[in-house]
Amino acid sequence: MAETQDPFSAPFGTLFGDQYTVATMAEGTYHYSGSPVPLENLSLHPATHALHYGSTCFEGLKAHRQADGSVAIFRLDDHINRLLQSISRLRMPPPDFDMVRTMIVDAVAANIDATPDAPGSLYLRPTFIGTAANIGAAASPSSTALFYVLTSPVGDYFAGGIRPLTIYIETSTPRTTPQFGMVKSGANYVMALGPTLDAKRDHAADQILFATNGDVTETGAANFCLVDGDRVITRNLDESFLHGVTRNSILTIASDMGYTVEERALPLDEVKAFAEHGEAFLSGTAAVISPVGNILVNDEKISFGDGQPGPNSLKLREALVGIQLGKAEDTHGWRTVVQAG
Ligand SMILES: Cc1ncc(COP(=O)(O)O)c(C=O)c1O
Repeated sequence: MAETQDPFSAPFGTLFGDQYTVATMAEGTYHYSGSPVPLENLSLHPATHALHYGSTCFEGLKAHRQADGSVAIFRLDDHINRLLQSISRLRMPPPDFDMVRTMIVDAVAANIDATPDAPGSLYLRPTFIGTAANIGAAASPSSTALFYVLTSPVGDYFAGGIRPLTIYIETSTPRTTPQFGMVKSGANYVMALGPTLDAKRDHAADQILFATNGDVTETGAANFCLVDGDRVITRNLDESFLHGVTRNSILTIASDMGYTVEERALPLDEVKAFAEHGEAFLSGTAAVISPVGNILVNDEKISFGDGQPGPNSLKLREALVGIQLGKAEDTHGWRTVVQAG
């Protein structure tokens, strides 16, 4: 990474560590050479399966510079498990857990000096693509694949740091298809793009929250929670939306802190009523905990409290970030410390 490139001024995800790790798969057998290589362009056949039939998925996790100067990956094993689940849902043979773990740790070790201090981090993007050159394989999985781990020094996901977001509520168009919501596949993101761009243009919204027929689930790239002084409430898991690792971390931390955690159906009417006394936030690896100031329901604008980040959201955010940065005890074993490569 060139020294003049500043992760705090460059848009999220546009800078890259200059080493990455790569494995190939043929007929179900994976091969990783065992060491990182310089990041370079891929050479793909124009008939590459992933380009035509969407046989691709990825993960998003972060390595954080710790208070003592070391670097630790947050919830590495949970992200690997979700990746393996996504690959299986593409009907592709998943790689070995330990190989993926080694490749992610090696990629961080090779780019450890590019890890910014907090609130920045090294964002990690394990990526899987079906590479078979076959434009007649719409109904069969790719016989070959590439799996690689990119690193990207990042600052804040939402420009402007912690500020209350304005969220448009989408009640008719779902984010993706019900059976693919829990797969971290590019197709899901491009499906959500149209309604998201429309809401940004027509309502000056930061994001949209999918609440098909009033069933509140998630936004285009984060989960959604309500909180007040006693409770954290979020939609119960099913196959229709992504099982956020941050969501799980927050529910665990909230329970440790004495909040009652409710995972259940979340009707839009309840969210609207909750705004009278409570808070709402988005949760995700990139978003961390991003407070919601207002929601837009048709032509109605509903503010949570005075529209500013609330104390419970900030308290949970501080607790989460404390664990990520090594300032608080890691009671759940969520940090993996990486040694320089
Ligand atoms: C659609 C969607 N929902 C939720 C999340 C939050 O997941 P996590 O907390 O694991 O980053 C993400 C981010 O990856 C996402 O893209």
